[in-house]
Amino acid sequence: MESNFISKPASTELKVEPNLLELRGGRMSYPWEGVQKELDWLPGGYLNKAYECIDRHAIGSRRDKPALLWEGKKGETETYTFFQLKRETDKFANVLLGLGLKRGDRVFFFMERVPEQYIAIFGALKVGAVAGPLFSAFGPEPVKDRLLDSGARILITQPSLRRKIAGILPELPNLEKIVVVNKYGRDSTPLAEGDLSYEALMEQASDDFQIAQTTMNDYSIMHYTSGTTGKPKGAVHRHFAIVQQYITGKWVLDFHEDDIYWCTADPGWVTGTSYGMLAPWSNGVTQLVHEGGFHARTWYELIEKYKVTVWYTAPTAIRMLMKAGEELPRERDLSSLRHINSVGEPLNPEAIAWGHPVFEQAIHDTWWQTETGAILIANYAFMDVRPGSMGKPLPGIEAAVLDQKYQPLPADTDGMLAIRPGWPSMFQTYWNNTEMYNSRFRNGWYITGDQARYDQDGYFWFVGRTDDVINTAGHLVGPFEVESILLEHPAVVEAGVIGKPDPIAMEVVKAFVAVKDGVEESEELLRDVHRFARTKLAAAVAPREIEFLPSLPKTRSGKIMRRLLKARELGLPEGDTSTLEEG
Ligand code: WT7
Repeated sequence: MESNFISKPASTELKVEPNLLELRGGRMSYPWEGVQKELDWLPGGYLNKAYECIDRHAIGSRRDKPALLWEGKKGETETYTFFQLKRETDKFANVLLGLGLKRGDRVFFFMERVPEQYIAIFGALKVGAVAGPLFSAFGPEPVKDRLLDSGARILITQPSLRRKIAGILPELPNLEKIVVVNKYGRDSTPLAEGDLSYEALMEQASDDFQIAQTTMNDYSIMHYTSGTTGKPKGAVHRHFAIVQQYITGKWVLDFHEDDIYWCTADPGWVTGTSYGMLAPWSNGVTQLVHEGGFHARTWYELIEKYKVTVWYTAPTAIRMLMKAGEELPRERDLSSLRHINSVGEPLNPEAIAWGHPVFEQAIHDTWWQTETGAILIANYAFMDVRPGSMGKPLPGIEAAVLDQKYQPLPADTDGMLAIRPGWPSMFQTYWNNTEMYNSRFRNGWYITGDQARYDQDGYFWFVGRTDDVINTAGHLVGPFEVESILLEHPAVVEAGVIGKPDPIAMEVVKAFVAVKDGVEESEELLRDVHRFARTKLAAAVAPREIEFLPSLPKTRSGKIMRRLLKARELGLPEGDTSTLEEG
C-alpha cells in the first residue's frame, strides 16, 4: 500500500544542555566505553533507543523471539516478537510523522499498561520526539501541569482516561491532537470531535520507516518528579542513557538470553521505562507486562504461569505480599525465580528475611532516581546482601557522602549522598528550568537529595531525605503540589502536607488544613475536602489523612513549617523554632 507519509523526519536543530561528560575532558576512562561498542549504532554513528531495543533484534537473530508477553486486566493475553514490535512501532512512527510531529517535539501518554503504550512510546522515539508517559491513576490536575509545562503537541490516551481529564483539555494551548486507543473496541462511546482513532490511523499507516538520525545527546524520555518547592519538574533524558540501562540490565538484573523478566512498575514512573522497557529490550530479553494492579494471589500466579526468572519490584509490594501471608506462595511453584531486585524506598531487613524462605533467595536492593536514569548503587547478584543496605556503587560510579560544605565525609558518618557527574544516563535538564537543574550540582558533585552513609566495606545505607519530599509506596510526592490543590477548596485557607510513617507504604500523605473564619470544622466538610483532593489529584497522591488545625505554624516570612507539623505528629522534639511566626 502506498503511504502518504514522508519516511524521513526533517532534521531540526535541537538545543541540548552542555554535556558534562564532554566538559570533563580528561575523565573519559569510564567502563561504559566498551559497552558502546557492544551496542549496535545506527548507520552513520547515530544513536536511538528504539533501534537498540527493537530494530537491531528484529533484523538479527532475535527476530522471532518474544519481546513482550502481555496479560490484560481480564486475563487477556498477547505476545509480540521483536519483529512484530518493529513493524508496529514503524507504523506508529509514520502515524506521528503524518500528524506533523517533528524531532524534539513532546508526545505524552496517559494510558494503562497495554501493548499500545509501549508501541506508541517507541514509535515516538523513532521520530526523534521526546516521550512523556504519565501515571494512569493521576487525576486531571497532575496531568494538566505536566502537559502544560512540557508543551506536549500530541497526547495518546484511552477512552476512560480521556473522560477523566476532559475538563482540562481546553486549557492546553499546545496540545494539537489526541489519539485514542480503544482496545478491542471495549468502549462504546464515540470519539470526541477532533480526536483520532489509533486503530484507524494504524490501519492506514505504512510499516516502512527510517529512524530519525538522533545523536546520543538528543532528548528521548522525560519524567516529572517532585521536589521540595514548586510543581514537579520534568527530568529529561537523552538517547545515550541506553548505554547504562543496558549495562545495569546485565550487571544488576543479571539478564541472560533465556530470562523471562517482570518489572512491576508503571511506565508513568521512571522504573517503568528504564527497567520496564529500555534495560530488558536493549538486552534482547523477553518481558512480561501485567496490566492489572497489585493482587497477591494474581502476582504469585503470574510468576508461576510465565516462569518468571528475574523480578524487579518495590519494597511496598513485598510488604503487601508479606501481609497476605505464606499460604498463597506455598500453593504456587515459584522455583523459576532466579534473581529478585527492589527499588524506590528502603528495603527493610524484615522484608528480606521474610522473602528468603518464600523465594529461596535474598531480595537485592538497588538505589537510583528519576534524575539518574538508571541504577547507580546496588547489591549485585554475586555479592552477599547486607540486609538494609542499598549496596555498592556500580563500576564507573563515584558516590560520596558530603557535609554541609559539600566536602566528602569518612565512612560511618551521615551526610548528603552525592554522585560525581558524568554517568551516561544522567538527566540533561529539568524542562524549562535550567536554574533548578544547575542548583543540583555543587562543588563538582550531583546532590541527590538523599541522606546516607557508607560503611567500612563500602556498602551504602539510606538514612532519609534531606527535603520535605514524601515517599509513599515508592512514589515521590511533593507537598507543595498537594497543598496547592487543598488551597483551591473554597473552605480552606492554609494547608501543610507531610509524610506520616506507615508500616506498609513507608509514608502516607497527611494534610493539615485551617478553614476560613466562620466555616464550621465538621465531619462533612472533612469528607468533602478528601473528595475534592482525590478527584483533582490521584488516589496515590491525595492525602490519606486530613486534620483540621486552627492555624498552621509558619515562619516569619509566612512559609508553612512542615518540619514542625511532622515533629508534632510524631511526638518528637520540635527542634529549632526560632524562625516561628510570633503570636
Ligand atoms: C528517591 C528517588 C528510581 C527508582 C524509583 C524512584 C528513594 C530510591 C531507594 C532505596 C531507599 C530509595 C530515594 C531517592 N529511593 N531507591 N533503594 N532505598 N530509598 O525514583 O521517584 O525519582 O525517587 O527514592 O529517596 O532519592 P524517584
